[in-house]
Amino acid sequence: MQKIGIGLAGLGTVGTGVYRSLMQNNLLLTERVGLELEIRRIAVRNLSAPRSVQPAPGILSDRWETVVDDPNVGIVVELIGGIDLPFALFQRALKAGKPVITGNKALLAEKGAQIFELAADVNVPVFFEAAVAGGIPIIKSIREGFIGNHLQAIHAILNGTSNYILSRMTEAGIDFPEALQEAQANGYAEADPTLDINGWDAAHKAIILASLAYGFWVDSRLVHVEGIEKVSAADIRFAQDLGYRIKLVATIRADSNSSIEVRVNPTLVPQGHVLAPVNGVFNALMVRGDIVGDTLFYGRGAGQDPTASAVISDLAQAAIWIDSGGKAFGFTPHGLYGKCLPIDDLVSGFYLRLTVDDRPGVLAQVAGILGTHDIGISSVIQPETHDATAVPLVLMIHNAPFGRMRAALEEIKRLACVKGPAILLWILS
Ligand code: HSE
Repeated sequence: MQKIGIGLAGLGTVGTGVYRSLMQNNLLLTERVGLELEIRRIAVRNLSAPRSVQPAPGILSDRWETVVDDPNVGIVVELIGGIDLPFALFQRALKAGKPVITGNKALLAEKGAQIFELAADVNVPVFFEAAVAGGIPIIKSIREGFIGNHLQAIHAILNGTSNYILSRMTEAGIDFPEALQEAQANGYAEADPTLDINGWDAAHKAIILASLAYGFWVDSRLVHVEGIEKVSAADIRFAQDLGYRIKLVATIRADSNSSIEVRVNPTLVPQGHVLAPVNGVFNALMVRGDIVGDTLFYGRGAGQDPTASAVISDLAQAAIWIDSGGKAFGFTPHGLYGKCLPIDDLVSGFYLRLTVDDRPGVLAQVAGILGTHDIGISSVIQPETHDATAVPLVLMIHNAPFGRMRAALEEIKRLACVKGPAILLWILS
């Protein structure tokens, strides 16, 4: 049976998971793929660091170039992280005719256009199942399973850390800083959770999904991204009273003119929606195709084993590509798309929480400004409070373009009766 050599660049959490899982299920994989997959080279940063797996002597190197250049390595797995170094690795490996596998969402979101152009030029595939939603096979589903569909919309929970934090805020009624501390103490949040919390980890994944779904590489500067820091326990309670859960949702969809919308926001999800009960560190995606209708994917979006499972599925595909000399499902430009809608043109319902003076005429002033911008209110909550100075005022806003909503909000914030920050959240529709 033909053997295919694998080179791993990186033996951290995911690399160790790939190594261990390949050892554990090697026979199963060999039977299913019809080829033997063998790790022949591993690049590590520090040769003498302690590790939980013990590769054979001579396999390790502290230079990633050794892995890429080794003639016995046919497939390169990039698990280094960062942008510049893995980008250099991609260029070297693809030019050498070696398929590359990665889980590096930031790299693909920033350099995807260049990487896929090179891959097409040299006719060598790139695989990245691990880059979006960890163990959920969403990349293969979009590339292959939905190949006969126009994808109308994807609504997705793509960041486990923020979903865990929002779930804990909902269950325990705690505020964001306490829930973040809890996530860190339980090992769910990264040491530096900035990209999880500010929405950019989910946005990188949304850019990859949007690019695959709509056939042009989406420019990250056109993506509207908001994080979960501004959500408070009070917002979660008000949302619950109104029949919603708050989730960090990536929205990716096309309008009837083939312009696309890509955004990530803390979003009010109706309690009956399939994404509403997705709690804890889990990810989920609702994908709507014109032929298939609605589909739902659910699973772990991070962690050693789910991510290793995704990398191994890519290894199988890369090995089959080598063996058959065949065509891989790559990033193929297609469709009429090519344009992202400006954020101000995106239409949504909104939740607006203000803190206002508790005196006659305040609601009329706020409603008046919304009215002059042609924005309708669908409901209002103003709970009784014993704090005579300021009260929360929550407004649910009918569908309106974000640009108009933003302009109205700027005016509302300037009213003398409005105290403190205004919280504006999007409603899933
Ligand atoms: N930190 C991410 C998450 C996983 O919490 O989902 C890696 O993208």
